[in-house]
Amino acid sequence: MKVSDTSDLWWKSAVIYCLDVEVFMDGDGDGIGDLGGLASRLDYLAELGVTCLWLMPFYPSPDRDDGYDISDFLGVDRRLGDLGDFVEVIRIAEDRGMRVIVDLVVNHTSDKHPWFKAARASRNSPFRDFYVWRDEPPERQPEPVFPDQETSDWQYDEKAGQYYQHVFYRQQPDLNITNERVRDEIAKVVGFWVQLGVSGFRVDAVPFLLDTTGIVDGKKLLPDPHAYLRHLRSFLDRRSGQAILLGEVNLDRKQQNTFFGGSEGNELTMQFDFISMQKLYLSLARGDARPLEKALLSRPKGSPDIQWANFVRNHDELTLDKLTEKERAEVFAAFGPEKRMQVYDRGLVRRLPPMLQGDPRRIRMVYSLMFSLPGTPVLFYGEEIGMGENLDVGGRMSVRTPMQWNADRNGGFSTAPTAKLRNAVTPGGFGPEHVNVAQQRRDPDSLLAFVRTLIRHYRNGSEFGWGAFDVLEQPDKAVLAHTLTMGDRVIIAVHNFASEPREVQLPLPVAHEDRRLTDVFTDAHVPLEGNTLTVSLDGYGYRWLRLTARDDTGLY
Ligand code: GLC
Repeated sequence: MKVSDTSDLWWKSAVIYCLDVEVFMDGDGDGIGDLGGLASRLDYLAELGVTCLWLMPFYPSPDRDDGYDISDFLGVDRRLGDLGDFVEVIRIAEDRGMRVIVDLVVNHTSDKHPWFKAARASRNSPFRDFYVWRDEPPERQPEPVFPDQETSDWQYDEKAGQYYQHVFYRQQPDLNITNERVRDEIAKVVGFWVQLGVSGFRVDAVPFLLDTTGIVDGKKLLPDPHAYLRHLRSFLDRRSGQAILLGEVNLDRKQQNTFFGGSEGNELTMQFDFISMQKLYLSLARGDARPLEKALLSRPKGSPDIQWANFVRNHDELTLDKLTEKERAEVFAAFGPEKRMQVYDRGLVRRLPPMLQGDPRRIRMVYSLMFSLPGTPVLFYGEEIGMGENLDVGGRMSVRTPMQWNADRNGGFSTAPTAKLRNAVTPGGFGPEHVNVAQQRRDPDSLLAFVRTLIRHYRNGSEFGWGAFDVLEQPDKAVLAHTLTMGDRVIIAVHNFASEPREVQLPLPVAHEDRRLTDVFTDAHVPLEGNTLTVSLDGYGYRWLRLTARDDTGLY
């Protein structure tokens, strides 16, 4: 047997599932999801075909920013369980063939973190320099990340007698990574969770973490912040040969390439493809695949070991900040025309199915697309059953409603009185009465069954995670036809962004002699004649075809 990269570099063909422990499953009936509840649902995730869980922050937190304001990096929030419960989750997941990655949120701490309490109490505190202080805020400041709540990145602190920097909420003071002790603490956090068995980190707000421009004392500035990211990566590699850094970097392609470490690939292992995600919505709004096509083709080449994380929806606002104002207005008009559906003038607070008016053809087309794009798919919990949002909750919390397990009270998430739930359940047509796991599990035609099928095919064919990407030229702008090539095997994926049926003529990427073409979903043989392939698609239709050598004995 050939010892191959395809199994070593697990992240290249993983299926990642993001969940917030607090709203996934409540094991002890107090209205808040917990690690015990999650442990009891790991078989469900394994059955779905997930290979890696991404746990959103479960650390002690005053919850100003839903756990992204951490008061102890080495602990578990008491409401969610303890370290023993965490280790149990890791162990059971491992037993079911799933890895676990966790959020690394070290751009800032909570203002309730003991470091910050000590820092603000005295200028002489050894922790003072853990944060970024100034007597006067800088004259020129960037637009705040949360413009509805903050007007400045700098907050005057009475106790400290100075201003501190906070890129996010004022309760999230920024850590000063030019301080070697802070970098040591971050390494300790990384080392700790790796030792407990995690396979890496989703690294929060990476560009902000590396941005040291807020620090006045020029002498202390890190000469090259990316050298620090490289250092963090090599530290992680030393501690665990197989752990990853999956970074949140919503920047342009050139800068994303830098965060990968260019052709060396020695910084982030993975990055979310924010650009393609945004263009996907533009393409959907226009019924025109070209914006997405262009975004995919603009991905930097980089090292073969790095990987893109494809996603349709995450836990934050569906940001459209990289679109032009006109494009953003188009997407708003199509998918979130009401003010309460929008946030920060740049994003939507909705989930996909309600945005597509629940049209099952269109929803399936989008997930077919996500699983066929080059890269690693990342699902946000509940996407597999088509959950909707709760606009009454408002803001980013609208999409963080409890997981819908069955049609019972609280969607089977908790036995607690409804008023005690961490977050209200999604009401209406996308709520648990109509959308839930129990129902869909029994229905072979459900979205859940469909997503399970997509995952199975994705996992069976290493072309998806590893294949070389290309676009097949054809004149219909409503259609995206792309290929993923790995050796003798080629996946041809064709998606129709229009509601009307389409027929497209595609140039075969290789000579048809001695080739076999199979429909991935039906396993039907597709006859090949000449060097053009004719594909018919229903409205919002999709096809996955596999081209192999005639004597290919692969089991797909
Ligand atoms: C990231 C997270 C977001 C959080 C912010 C501050 O953008 O995804 O939820 O509010 O960082 O930690």
